[in-house]
Amino acid sequence: VAGYKTIEWVDGKVRMIDQRQLPHTLVYVEYEDYHQVAQAIRDMVIRGAPAIGAAAGYGMALAALHSRAASPQELRVELIQAAHDLGASRPTAHDLFWATARILKRTNDKTLSDLVSIKAAALEEAQQIAHANIEINRRIGLNALPLIPDKARILHHCNTGSLATVDYGTALGVARAAFEHGKQVHVYVDETRPRLQGARLTAWELEQLGIPYTVIVDSASGSIMRRIGIDLCLVGCDRIAANGDTANKIGTYNLALIAHAHHVPFYVVGPTSTIDMSICNGDEINIEERPAEEVTHIAGVQITPEGAPVANPAFDVTPAQYITAIITERGITRPPYIENLAAMMSDKGIIQA
Ligand code: MRU
Repeated sequence: VAGYKTIEWVDGKVRMIDQRQLPHTLVYVEYEDYHQVAQAIRDMVIRGAPAIGAAAGYGMALAALHSRAASPQELRVELIQAAHDLGASRPTAHDLFWATARILKRTNDKTLSDLVSIKAAALEEAQQIAHANIEINRRIGLNALPLIPDKARILHHCNTGSLATVDYGTALGVARAAFEHGKQVHVYVDETRPRLQGARLTAWELEQLGIPYTVIVDSASGSIMRRIGIDLCLVGCDRIAANGDTANKIGTYNLALIAHAHHVPFYVVGPTSTIDMSICNGDEINIEERPAEEVTHIAGVQITPEGAPVANPAFDVTPAQYITAIITERGITRPPYIENLAAMMSDKGIIQA
């Protein structure tokens, strides 16, 4: 979104928007210690899988730059610890682990023989991860254009826009690309309980972009499909298994079932860095459980009886059978995913994400 940056490297620090303050206040926070970055990811100062990946990359760069290690060997051991600490912040987003693994791989290059060059390589790799994300998202938007009819009524869950990425967005970026290419679109924005990423963040972004939208409560999606009509659903992803099963914000699975019942196409949108070919299916995805207060309280006010038992899984898994297509920077992948994702991921010809 023009005028503000979700995350960037400024004067030896990582600067990010504190997304907990939006839409009321646009506040930036800066960190120079990787532990602070891990805490910011955990507290959802920054959130959304690709943005978390970029933050983790910069966290690794901070760990390298501020290290007092006396030898390359010692620095490399410290970076493994930093990757572990950052990975513990939010376990579901594959981009987080993909980003820290990239920094580890780069800094393990044995041609880097001194501390200065290892530190420089860590920062350079983190910058590449962040900068490439913008181009990847634009490609995703272009790849999806044929799937978006003019006058499309789009149902979107959570926030997958500029704020969830380094810029432009993935699923919301698809709506944005269609709009920028002259198509009329209207986005129905799931509010996304409990943290209201849709009502707070997606609505804010669409407002800035001038894209028409309507905020709905999550439980209205079935009725909206039946009474008004929805042409397609667009959702993001935190981790996609080799068979296409997809972890995304809690409520995505419900939405997929409703879309299936109404014969509405259900598109999962994300970069290939979100695809985890090391796991066969969604049962293997680690689903983050978040604090009960997110459910028991709204804006600091308790809404449940004192001591009410709560379950608060941050994500759910949508079985591949309910996903019409998976849209990435490499193109549109359709079932059977077990074959087509493998073929797409092994295609070295397009873009190395
Ligand atoms: O808990 P969040 O806000 O990090 O969850 C975000 C989502 O579930 C997004 O759909 C996903 O990370 C993709 S963001 C482009």
